[in-house]
Amino acid sequence: MRRSDEDRTLFRPQKYVAFHMLISRWLRGVAPGTKYQYVTLGGTELRDVLHLHFIDPNLVSRVTTFESKAHRSKLAEKAAQDLQKQGLVIRSINGNIFDYERDSDEPHIFFFDLPGRFAWSDYEERFARLLQHRTVREGDAVFITSILARHSWERVFVTFRGEFNLLEAKDKNSKVRWYRKAHPSFTLYRALRCAYLEDEIQMRCIGAVEYRGGGEGGGSALMGVYGYVVQGGRTEFSEFVADGSVPHFSEPKARYVVGEE
Ligand SMILES: C[S@@+](CC[C@H](N)C(=O)[O-])C[C@H]1O[C@@H](n2cnc3c(N)ncnc32)[C@H](O)[C@@H]1O
Repeated sequence: MRRSDEDRTLFRPQKYVAFHMLISRWLRGVAPGTKYQYVTLGGTELRDVLHLHFIDPNLVSRVTTFESKAHRSKLAEKAAQDLQKQGLVIRSINGNIFDYERDSDEPHIFFFDLPGRFAWSDYEERFARLLQHRTVREGDAVFITSILARHSWERVFVTFRGEFNLLEAKDKNSKVRWYRKAHPSFTLYRALRCAYLEDEIQMRCIGAVEYRGGGEGGGSALMGVYGYVVQGGRTEFSEFVADGSVPHFSEPKARYVVGEE
């Protein structure tokens, strides 16, 4: 295999089924009929950009795709040029999505299509900065992928001890269930608190969909994609995380759960 082929980000169709499910829910339930700027981690293929364009070619006025790895960014640049020929306004940046500088009041859709976990690392602080700088603001939508496989559960239980206490999750099964359903919300709530914005910004989860097919090289790791809307108001932890109306589509039996499991 040529180096450029090895470097390509290719994922199974399940990923895009999950993405379509959440985008449809957001479009039907929340999004006004307005144009958005789309900021994404498009990898080398920009497949998510294509899918969004398929759903509604008029939804997005401009796409900005980030790729931190230089060799992948070259492939992304080529894919972006091809999409430009189809009429999309798109720029490809070799850099970190958390350094995105917003230059427009048009509402944004962010897709943090991360290959790893939206927990640990410095995601709280980075997302807090996006909120403080109003890079992410009221009227925006945020989609996040996070890997659900290969956990040290002890580490999860220790890191999120406070969150599990608030959720009254005492046994291992209920902690694992909450983690799968909502751990990006734990990180987002921490980010809101870190930015001192939990009384000014309301984040609301619109759903979580698990799928197989994450991981580098298109492996079969269990992943989750989570959708959020950002609006004015106040975010209260248990309302945000334990909102009984938020659906969770969970593997392995594609169980669809609304409310308490
Ligand atoms: C899951 S892939 C993107 C797949 C793409 N959305 C698609 O559907 O075709 C994620 C890509 O983002 C890159 N990446 C991860 N974290 C990043 C960050 N903070 N900033 C920029 N690129 C990042 C990875 O190198 C990887 O190529």
